[in-house]
Order: sequence, then structure tokens, then C-alpha cells
Amino acid sequence: MASDGEREIAAIRDRVVAEIRAADSVTALDDVRVRVLGRSGELTLQLRAVGALPASERPAAGKALNQARRAIEALLDERRASLESAAISGALHDSSFDFTLPATPMRLGTLHPISRIQYQIEDIFTSMGFAVLDGPEVESDYYNFEALNIPKNHPARDMQDTFYLEDGNLLRTHTSPVQVRAMEVMRPPIRAIAPGRVFRYEVTDASHENTFYQVEGLMVDEDISVANLIAVMKTMLREVFERDVTVRLRPGYFPFVEPGFELDIRCFICEGKGCAVCKRSGWVELMPCGMVHPAVLRYGRIDPDRHSGFAFGLGLNRLVMMRYRIDDIRLFLSGDLRFLEQF
Ligand code: PHE
Repeated sequence: MASDGEREIAAIRDRVVAEIRAADSVTALDDVRVRVLGRSGELTLQLRAVGALPASERPAAGKALNQARRAIEALLDERRASLESAAISGALHDSSFDFTLPATPMRLGTLHPISRIQYQIEDIFTSMGFAVLDGPEVESDYYNFEALNIPKNHPARDMQDTFYLEDGNLLRTHTSPVQVRAMEVMRPPIRAIAPGRVFRYEVTDASHENTFYQVEGLMVDEDISVANLIAVMKTMLREVFERDVTVRLRPGYFPFVEPGFELDIRCFICEGKGCAVCKRSGWVELMPCGMVHPAVLRYGRIDPDRHSGFAFGLGLNRLVMMRYRIDDIRLFLSGDLRFLEQF
């Protein structure tokens, strides 16, 4: 025999079921849910009152209330799903809704062209066993100059117009300080690259920026020679330009390499015949490099009688400008979306 309490619960349930069936929108359905199962909903209050019942009535009342609640919840979910799908198909059939219209395009960001090349170069060198290192942008005079064989008052300091900070530090003018930092913590064989931002106190124009990007390269082991330097550079260039690249070395001066070179590549626009990009010479200057100077090895606590190495300083902006034929270096930091969206 059902008790009065159970009859009352059954009555509530039947009424709520009818209300759910009658709800004609998701909003109306939500109203029913809140009224019955919400914080102070009808059924919630009943459930809370179970504790106050005489112990003999509690189990049956609790069981009946929970069953009613589960039934109502299941019905609410079912009704909601069918109201939602009806709303969608209603929208599709509503003549004012043209579902053949293209959606509003989503604006996705893209990688900056410098980042793209940087990541590509990191991948190429990683596959050749190079580590990718990072160095500070605020550098000491020691790492930026002194340990690179550029003593105070050395004329080579003028080659690199420097932003000095009030505390005596400076903004690194190149990524070469990472060479010394690498040698301090790594022992030969050393194979490392160090991409990063560098700064020069310079008047800007289409080919000069005060902030640009380099990738330093360093390889130190027994018997490293210019042949290793050329082989590694050709491998890298083949990947970046997706074809074999002819290179040549000219003498170049940097205090931290001996001998020092400028590495040129055969102009890929005119194939060496002479054009505006290569200024009729058939060659384009790509990057300075050379064999690490014995004094620099010593600063890195490496014995120049046992080990030798090569280093290079690849200008990323220049590389990107050649690959995509960009004619103004200032575009990179302009933040101009018309430029950036092309990559
Ligand atoms: N650090 C030099 C520069 O930025 C380039 C360089 C790197 C030259 C390594 C030789 C070897 O001007």
C-alpha cells in the first residue's frame, strides 16, 4: 500500500512530466528544471525534508524521491535534445536564413617570417647534431668584445655601433658572445647554434635596422677545417633554398676568426649572369664566418693546440629578404599586417 507521502511524490512527478511535455522552447524547459530541481526547487526541498521524517519512513521516502528525480532528469534531457534539433532544422527551413552564405572568415595569426626561417634553420642544424643555445640580449663588455679578442680601444669596436647601458652593460651587437658562453660550459666536440636578436646604434634605412636577428654557429673538435665549414653551410643552404647553391669564400676581417671570410652565394636570380640583386657581380654576400681565433678558444678554456673550430654569423633578416625578395628591412618590425599576412 502506498503511503500518503508516496502518493504526493507521484502526483508531483506526473504534473512535472506534463509540464516538460508542454515546454515549447529550451528556455521554457530551463524554467521547469529550475522550479523543480533548482536550489529551492520543489523536489529539492522535499529531498532535504527527508531527514526530518521519522526513521521508519525515511528509506521509502528517500527512495521514491530519488526515483522521481531521476525520471524527471532523463525526461528533461530528452526533451531538450529534441527541442534543440527542432530549432536547428527550423532555422534551416526558415527562408530568411541562407545557409549557403560563406561563414565569416576566422582571422588566424601566422608566424613572423623571421620566426619561420629561424625554426627551419634550427631543424636543419638539430638534424646535424647541433644544440640550439640561447644567450642574453643584455650582455657584458667582456662577452660581447673582450673575450672575442676585441680589447678596449680596438678599432673593431667602431665596426659595431653599440647601445651602452648606464650600468656598464650593453645590448649585444651580435650573437658571437654565445660562442664564448658555449665553450665555457661545453667540451669538444661542440656543435651549437645560437639564434637571437641583436642591436646596433644605427640610422635606419631600407637596408639598416637597429634591431635584427642572427644565428651564430660554432663547431669545435679535433681537426676542424674550412672544409667542414663549407660542407655544413652548403647543407644548410640546400635546405633553405631547396636547391644546390654554389658558394665562394672571400677574405673578411673579424678579430675573433683567423682566417676570416665572407661567404657569398651564386646569385639565384640571374644564375650568375649579373642582375640588379647581385649588382651585376653574379654573387650575393651571405654571411661572415671563419676559423675560431686561438685567443677566443683560450677564453673558452679550450686548448688551441688540440682543438680547432669554425664559426659563422648568419643574418636572418638578409636571408629572409633574399628568399622572399623583400626590399626594405624595416618591414620586419613595422607590425604592418599587410606585410605580415603574406607569410
Ligand atoms: N659576429 C659577426 C657580426 O655580427 C659575424 C661573425 C660571426 C663573423 C662569426 C665571423 C664569425 O658582425
